Amino acid sequence: MMNTLQGKRILLGISGGIAAYKSADLTRRLREHGASVRVVMTRSACEFITPLTMQALSGQPVHVELLDYKTEGAMGHIDLARWADVILVAPASANFMARLAHGQADDLLSTLCLASSVSITLAPAMNQQMWQNPATQANVTLLRDRGVTLLGPATGGQACGETGPGRMLEPLELVDALARGFISDRLSGLKLVITAGPTREAIDPVRYISNRSSGRMGYAVARAAAEAGGNVVLVSGPTQLHQPERIRCQPVTTAAEMHDAVMREIEDAEIFIAAAAVADYRCSQAAIQKIKKDNDELTLLLEKNPDILAAVAARKLPPFTVGFAAETENLLNYAQQKLFNKKLDMIAANQVGMNQGFDTEDNELQVIWSGGSIKLERAPKDRLARQLIRLIADRYHEKNTTQTH
Ligand code: C5P
Repeated sequence: MMNTLQGKRILLGISGGIAAYKSADLTRRLREHGASVRVVMTRSACEFITPLTMQALSGQPVHVELLDYKTEGAMGHIDLARWADVILVAPASANFMARLAHGQADDLLSTLCLASSVSITLAPAMNQQMWQNPATQANVTLLRDRGVTLLGPATGGQACGETGPGRMLEPLELVDALARGFISDRLSGLKLVITAGPTREAIDPVRYISNRSSGRMGYAVARAAAEAGGNVVLVSGPTQLHQPERIRCQPVTTAAEMHDAVMREIEDAEIFIAAAAVADYRCSQAAIQKIKKDNDELTLLLEKNPDILAAVAARKLPPFTVGFAAETENLLNYAQQKLFNKKLDMIAANQVGMNQGFDTEDNELQVIWSGGSIKLERAPKDRLARQLIRLIADRYHEKNTTQTH
């Protein structure tokens, strides 16, 4: 299980508390397990342990100030937020948790937490009265509801001489728990083709038909697949998203281009995940010049785009095929039908509406396959993506063992 941390990028936040001394050992342990660690400290953390110590142990510059021309030059705060696979704040003080719960961004660490789309894990450490205080407990509830993971605190003797809940978990316990949060290397040696984002279908040289897909879910799935050791090709329609690292990206614009790129890549792929919101129709004949608004009415003749997912599933030797179903009504019925009609191995269904599903950070999914189904509760898209990839890996291996026996 321990090799799940191999190559993982952990942004270790340290806030002010006596348990900060344990973060030094934590950094060593994480690196021993193959993780890269970059340390961000709050100013009060520097009263308990020096940035120099953390720099020596992490082997990387330590970041403290939000606007520091030296560290911003090396790796700016937005780059740091993008770099991380997970943010672990250990110790997380009562004050830090309060700031995080209320969305403050008044120092580097809180800003990073706000600016990053990856999972946030906290290892609280504080005096037992502070932990049990209703204000802290209310913050804990708020944070958990938003998908933040809390590890600990443990109960026992405290530095202040009291006994009770508030001790930070030991470094090895944190390493273990963090490793469990990541998926294993169960996709090692497998090629995955993943589509993401919307497509654009030209009406004329300046206008197009498209939809509200942001691409976030597909990108999160691609990242999770790469984290699990997969060799990922991401065929992406136009999005505002940063190209994920460790992933081969094939940018496309139209459904036809997406279809061709997928067909080129699918030959030697074991898994296909269609997370793109492909435009169902395109203009039969896009105008060569900009259409003028001379008439009161304008009729566009549309023709159907190829169904990429169905085409992949209909191949002679199809890969393990996963579709998405975004529906505004009858979610489960439509999803079941799609699973059956398109001959898919699995489908991930999500309810969409004006303020739901598209262009949001959170999502919830109902995942269905021939032998079962599971609801993945509302969570940040990257955590959902990891859960989905875990399901896909399990089902893929199960299918392959039954087929080869
Ligand atoms: O039939 P519907 O469009 O709702 O199916 C959604 C699923 O099919 C998604 O996984 C989507 O990526 C895929 N799809 C596709 N090509 C299309 C339309 C949908 O791959 N032309």
